[in-house]
Amino acid sequence: MGLLEGKKALLTGSRRGIGAGIATLFAEHGADVGLNSPRPEPDEVAGRVIAAIEACGRRATWHPADVGDTAARERMFDEFLAAHGRIDILVNNAVTSDQMRSFFETDEEFWDFLMGHALKGYFFAAKRAASEMIRQGGGGRIINISSVHAYRAWPDDTVYGVIKAGLNRMVKSMAVDLAGTGITCNCIAPGYIDIRVLPPEEEPNRGREGWFDEAHAYIPSRRAGAPRHIAGAALFLASELGDYVNGETILVDGGLLSGGTPDDRRRREPRQ
Ligand SMILES: NC(=O)c1ccc[n+]([C@@H]2O[C@H](COP(=O)([O-])OP(=O)(O)OC[C@H]3O[C@@H](n4cnc5c(N)ncnc54)[C@H](O)[C@@H]3O)[C@@H](O)[C@H]2O)c1
Repeated sequence: MGLLEGKKALLTGSRRGIGAGIATLFAEHGADVGLNSPRPEPDEVAGRVIAAIEACGRRATWHPADVGDTAARERMFDEFLAAHGRIDILVNNAVTSDQMRSFFETDEEFWDFLMGHALKGYFFAAKRAASEMIRQGGGGRIINISSVHAYRAWPDDTVYGVIKAGLNRMVKSMAVDLAGTGITCNCIAPGYIDIRVLPPEEEPNRGREGWFDEAHAYIPSRRAGAPRHIAGAALFLASELGDYVNGETILVDGGLLSGGTPDDRRRREPRQ
């Protein structure tokens, strides 16, 4: 018996990486899953995720949307609800891969772009999900994927760090404002996660010492994390096991932040 038997979960940015890892573990535990990406149709990478979900005997549906676009995001929810009938779990996970800008290279366009989908988009997706959960009854789970960048600064991460710190704070307000609804709101803050798309036969090597750059040198667990490590925390929060965790952020970083500041050789003067 899975921990999420019969649950309906929508995950943003779930074509690959951490979102795909969570979607697959949720399906292994009995959930039907809605996948999201800005791509209109699933490509080969997404096809593998869908196949893994279907191999568990669960349903996978595809809901293309830029989560920073209000109309597209609302359409994503409409289509998911039409396909699945209800929503029990929302995982806000989508983010652009163009995340880093130096302080002086950060212009208003970049600020608005990142904030628009990765902070404002998360809030309004959570708001839509919560209103559906209240309407249908039975509570629900809202999980935002944050980052170790919420806690300390790396070069060029001002906007990204502000967003992730904002998400950690956002779930506290949501927990308070949604009190009594049975909906829990939490974040997971991953450390350094290896998100390369690998052929299935190479999966067992992921995160092995020496296999992925220098992660083993400065992470106490001596390796980069894998999407499944984040998925494990998401499964805990999404299931009955995490029922009494609310307004919290769970750090899943292999001890990365415990050891103080990792060495960063990219030292340079600010440029204007
Ligand atoms: N990989 C890491 O080391 C790491 C560390 C800390 C936090 N995170 C967080 O984990 C989450 C997932 O990141 P990942 O590492 O799996 O990256 P990823 O690039 O593999 O996944 C992000 C997905 O989001 C999609 N996406 C981008 N913009 C979108 C938009 N506007 N609307 C809908 N989908 C969009 C992308 O197409 C992609 O499939 C992010 O929130 C990221 O900040 C990752």
